[in-house]
Amino acid sequence: MTAGNAMLGNGQIGSVLVANHIDKRFEGIAALSDVSVHLEPGELVALIGPNGAGKTTLFNCLSGVLRPNSGQILLKGRDLSGLAAHERARLGLARTFQRMELFGSLTVREHLFVAHRAQRRGASLWRDLTGRSRPTPQEREQCDAVLELVGLGDHADRPAHSLTLGTGRVVELARALVCDPELLFLDEPSSGLDHRETEHMGTVLEQVRAERGTTILLCEHDVAFVERLASRTYVLDCGKLIAEGPTAEALASPQVRTAYLGAGAA
Ligand SMILES: Nc1ncnc2c1ncn2[C@@H]1O[C@H](COP(=O)(O)OP(=O)(O)OP(=O)(O)O)[C@@H](O)[C@H]1O
Ligand SMILES: [Mg+2]
Repeated sequence: MTAGNAMLGNGQIGSVLVANHIDKRFEGIAALSDVSVHLEPGELVALIGPNGAGKTTLFNCLSGVLRPNSGQILLKGRDLSGLAAHERARLGLARTFQRMELFGSLTVREHLFVAHRAQRRGASLWRDLTGRSRPTPQEREQCDAVLELVGLGDHADRPAHSLTLGTGRVVELARALVCDPELLFLDEPSSGLDHRETEHMGTVLEQVRAERGTTILLCEHDVAFVERLASRTYVLDCGKLIAEGPTAEALASPQVRTAYLGAGAA
């Protein structure tokens, strides 16, 4: 199958991302079996499933952290096979991680600055981390525009260790946005957040979509958060897609209720 076909699995020409028939095994364990997903421009699509369903593994395969055993991944029609994570990032793919990873002593703005520099070919990450190269006015402007977008303008000079978990998660989002990605994978952005912080994260994501039109694949456990934000939802269980479609329909399917709530729930 090539990008020249009118249909690509479930995706169309013009899809931002098409992943077809992805298999990933870990020493005999099938973490993903024949998983196909597609994302259309500007969509926010959710990926849900119980613990161990394979959600992060799919993110890792799509973003180039892991190599699938088989299957094809196309970003705007371009086959990503053989491209490393940083090469995929340069093509417009960004992600956040399930476990929050910020550098305690770096300020919020410095996190964005380092991420921005790290993506540029030939940039010296070491010089940036040790503070021996200063941001250009243009870089600073770009970082500050993202901080304003996500409502972190007042926190720009605060070190990461002084932030609440909720604010830290927004910094991770901002860091992923600083290179203006076309496609963003968010791995449980509401994880560990209380109700108010989760509400705020939802508002920030709506703001990002309204202003930037970024296409987003959102991995989540919080079903209310998914219902609020995602037009479509894929449901994984034990490495297999058990439902997909408009969010309300996917969540209502008997297989999903069984997977989440146990036998008898359906
Ligand atoms: N690097 C690895 N080596 C071996 N097995 C792995 C590895 N990464 C994931 N797995 C296994 O693959 C399966 C899917 O894990 P994955 O982390 O993708 O699930 P998940 O849906 O993200 O779960 P959670 O909701 O807990 O984050 C699990 O059985 C897990 O133990
Ligand atoms: Mg996970």
